[in-house]
Amino acid sequence: MTKPSSSDKPASGDSGLRKGLTSYGDQGFSLFLRKAFIKGSGYTDAALDRPVIGITNTGSAFNPCHGNMPQLLEAVKRGIMLAGGLPMDFPTISVHESFAAPTSMYLRNLMSMDTEEMIRAQPMDAVILIGGCDKTVPAQLMGAASAGLPAIQLVTGAMLTGSHRGERVGACTDCRRYWGKYRAAEIDDDEIAHVNDQLVSSVGTCSVMGTASTMACLAEALGIALPGSATPPAVTADRIRIAEQTGARAVELARERLTIDRILTPEAFENAMRVLLAIGGSTNGIVHLAAIAGRMGLEIDMQALDRLGRETPVLLDLKPTGQHYMEDFHKAGGMATLLRELRPLLRLDALTVTGRTLGEEIERAGPGFPQQVVRRRDDPIYPQGGIAVLRGNLAPGGAIIKQSAADARLMEHEGRAVVFDNAADLLARIDSDDLDVTADDVLVLRNIGPRGAPGMPEAGYIPIPRKLARAGVKDMVRISDGRMSGTAFGTVVLHVTPEAAIGGPLALVRSGDRIRLSVSRRELSLLVDEAELARRAAEAPVTVPSAPRGYLKLFLQSVTQADQGVDFDFLRAAESRGKTPR
Ligand code: FES
Repeated sequence: MTKPSSSDKPASGDSGLRKGLTSYGDQGFSLFLRKAFIKGSGYTDAALDRPVIGITNTGSAFNPCHGNMPQLLEAVKRGIMLAGGLPMDFPTISVHESFAAPTSMYLRNLMSMDTEEMIRAQPMDAVILIGGCDKTVPAQLMGAASAGLPAIQLVTGAMLTGSHRGERVGACTDCRRYWGKYRAAEIDDDEIAHVNDQLVSSVGTCSVMGTASTMACLAEALGIALPGSATPPAVTADRIRIAEQTGARAVELARERLTIDRILTPEAFENAMRVLLAIGGSTNGIVHLAAIAGRMGLEIDMQALDRLGRETPVLLDLKPTGQHYMEDFHKAGGMATLLRELRPLLRLDALTVTGRTLGEEIERAGPGFPQQVVRRRDDPIYPQGGIAVLRGNLAPGGAIIKQSAADARLMEHEGRAVVFDNAADLLARIDSDDLDVTADDVLVLRNIGPRGAPGMPEAGYIPIPRKLARAGVKDMVRISDGRMSGTAFGTVVLHVTPEAAIGGPLALVRSGDRIRLSVSRRELSLLVDEAELARRAAEAPVTVPSAPRGYLKLFLQSVTQADQGVDFDFLRAAESRGKTPR
């Protein structure tokens, strides 16, 4: 029998199990009751006196990208206990790209609210955020940034690659490539079925530089994840060891009270932007960075991002920009190899969760070794950063293009618009033999922005019309107010802001108009005079989408545009701390 412990007395400090007591009007009773309930699980007072480390458990049968969650949880808990803490995992929403309708982005903000509020509501001294699939890491960082506790990110890690008839394949650049072949009738039903078996050969996140891999690298660049934690594949011993180390470090973070605001600084965001550009990262990365920065009162300066892009070459030879996969990046030394090469361009004084600066961590990683995956700055994969920021009368608030994954032939292009009014219109007409379209035209898809779809789905990768695909056309200029998967490639202009659904100029384009894209001049122009555009706007005023109830109502009322991260306006920090990078 255990006697009542001194810790049953009202809290003198605000830590461990004494934090955030439930309101019963008597604090002593609140703690007494809390301990009585938790003791129902067999805990002793000695265990309950330790620093409490919360762990977000995002395991879900609907989320194979988090399929190693049981092993990660076990290792994280081991690390916490070895360091003298008490691990307490708790469930939050988990979102997988292929299992979320209408789109995972619609649910990212909900997950961030869940994460923030459960961190706030439950007693913990630090939190470990275990996420991986595209929207989960940004949602967790947004929520943790708002909650303000010491926090550390652990990603689930990439899947392994598979093999199809001797060719190495992995989700999801190869998914799109093979589906394109199937659409063009280059491969048959049997072959596409075999490819389907091979694309995802283990649990874990997509094996190319899609959004999940991008966010894993950005988390390390932000300093919110342990050095070396971005790249170990999901099913490796390295991944499990990182999990144990993350658990142990979280206990020290709690003791040091190293809160997240000291990590997510303007310098950290600048480093993340440099890395995003240098890895040829997903265009979604910039939306998520804008949302996380917004939670810290910071605004991503898109013009400054473009400036950084002109001096930051793509160094990472990974699909879809290059040829390798995440497991190759890991074997090539992972982020340490990349950061070492980028060193002169980085803010080395940015603090990381280790308590050391990024510069100190690069030093500690030691010298590099010969490898094929990270290029030298004088021999890059692409001479500028992966993402270019466009402006013009078609996108007064900006648009972006992943220039490193685009066709060089189409980067300076003028063509006739072929307009699809929304995703349903696209579906109905894109494969019609009657569609009036040539390879030189510009495909325009509107009403797939934050409010239009809603949730800004990854439908911006407009398929090549079937009749052109069968004729061998592989790429065309495509423009939309939506997003594109980081695993996709092509001359695709995205995030046109403001979106058509709130009356952006994209709503005024008509089939047959001329559109000019000049990536070298960062220009996206609709070649129609202002008077005609004003006439069209007056003729067909836009009705902004709304909903009568529920989360959809909240979403449509509150969602911001791409340049503000598609976050809810009421979740951004109340106080502005200016723009980043400075
Ligand atoms: Fe989860 Fe690609 S679907 S990371």
